[in-house]
Amino acid sequence: MRIQDIIAAKRDCRELTNGEISRIVMDYAAGEVPDYQMSAFLMAAYINGMSFAETSAMTQAMIDSGEVLDLSSISKTKVDKHSTGGVGDKTTLVVIPVMASCGLAVPKMSGRGLGFTGGTLDKLESIPGFNMALSPDQFVKQVNDIGAAIAGQTHDIVPADKKIYALRDVTATVESIPLIAASIMSKKIACSSDIILLDVKVGSGAFMHDLPRARELARTMIAIGTNLGRKVGTAITDMNQPLGRAVGNALEVAEAIDTLKGDGPADFRHLCVELSAIILYMAAQCKSLDEGRAIASGSLDNGSALKKFAEIISSQDGNPAVIDDYTLLPQAKYKYDVVSERSGFVSEVDCALIGRAACMLGAGRERKEDSIDPAVGIITNKKLGDRVENGEALAELYSNDESKTSEVASAVCKAYTIGDVSIVPPLIHELTY
Ligand code: URA
Repeated sequence: MRIQDIIAAKRDCRELTNGEISRIVMDYAAGEVPDYQMSAFLMAAYINGMSFAETSAMTQAMIDSGEVLDLSSISKTKVDKHSTGGVGDKTTLVVIPVMASCGLAVPKMSGRGLGFTGGTLDKLESIPGFNMALSPDQFVKQVNDIGAAIAGQTHDIVPADKKIYALRDVTATVESIPLIAASIMSKKIACSSDIILLDVKVGSGAFMHDLPRARELARTMIAIGTNLGRKVGTAITDMNQPLGRAVGNALEVAEAIDTLKGDGPADFRHLCVELSAIILYMAAQCKSLDEGRAIASGSLDNGSALKKFAEIISSQDGNPAVIDDYTLLPQAKYKYDVVSERSGFVSEVDCALIGRAACMLGAGRERKEDSIDPAVGIITNKKLGDRVENGEALAELYSNDESKTSEVASAVCKAYTIGDVSIVPPLIHELTY
């Protein structure tokens, strides 16, 4: 079987066998298939799609390219939460301590941000000293000791995805439902949790721009996970504006801590409580979603989730004093207001553009190898439906480079449409659990 024949089959819409998919994925991971052949294959898969059997085979081949995490020594129910990627999405920083404070085991492997979407690894690394590079033994021990650990994915877990995702990023093949489903589910399965909740983002700041595609992605991932013996739930949630107010690593950590203190932006807290409630329900820790909501809200309001977050920080060599003193987080030198040029209501936000504006400040990376500045970012003062007056600040920029400010300010200004009616979209579109 030649690689060019596999590419030709995908180009001509013939269904590939498990063996053909395994061959191209494994050989690419091993460096035996060059980037130009894998790029051609990915573009053919992007354009012609993949059947469910092909998507499942791709997921399995990616899992088989590396190790599967051994969590057999963790006796409690192991839960995982994953977002398909958004702007200002710091839910992991809140949901993980909430889950652990409720008695669940949360072995969380996270990634870095790429393009307009942020990554948990980058956010947590803005906490001085925080160590994401845990060995498998340290990771498992910490979950057994305190209920949660948040680590960077090790190189031997789904190595094929690292290479394929980097290639997709530069070959315009990211926004493909089967490729996203295989990428996410291979990592989730290899990380061995019993229960997986997938937060599928939909809107202008997500890979899925409309509900039908978000639904299809959700259904595909549920089917893959269920076939592989996992309990999978999905929440399709809105990404037509940044989640909460903060976009940028240290700024997002501060907002997550506010929320763990029982405060924080209403939309962000609401989503954290909903996701936590679903996980608690799926893990049989409550009899209804309402009971789960009450338990999750309680852990935010009574300080138990905050205490758990402090334990996670300390256990991973970070400085827990950041919880009481945000000035210990990296601070940007300059702050600028982006002002509205008219009065009205925020009627639309180009959420990806806000994400890209934060990247321009240095909060994210355009390319995998770029470095980031943890201090910089954007605080959005105005949300969809909010009243705004001419000259009022729509957002605040936190920057370390004055020369970029006017370009970023005009991008942020352009991202906001000010209209005459106040429309607030629902934050949560659909739940399956
Ligand atoms: N997140 C992933 O891990 N993979 C994708 O393909 C898209 C988002």
